[in-house]
Amino acid sequence: MTNVKIKVEENGPLLVEVDGKTTVTLCRCGKSQSQPSCDGTHAKIAFKAPSSEITVTD
Ligand code: FES
Repeated sequence: MTNVKIKVEENGPLLVEVDGKTTVTLCRCGKSQSQPSCDGTHAKIAFKAPSSEITVTD
């Protein structure tokens, strides 16, 4: 059984976890120079957004 979780970090990126391991960190602020990956720019620009979490189990 595969467990996929998408964690939306408060004021930060989307973390895609597969079976408990982060596989990719996706930019949500739109300012990363490494799109679609997060490069940490969200902290420099004081990006503000709420957190949430989605889990899909196959
Ligand atoms: S969310 Fe991290 S750089 Fe955009």
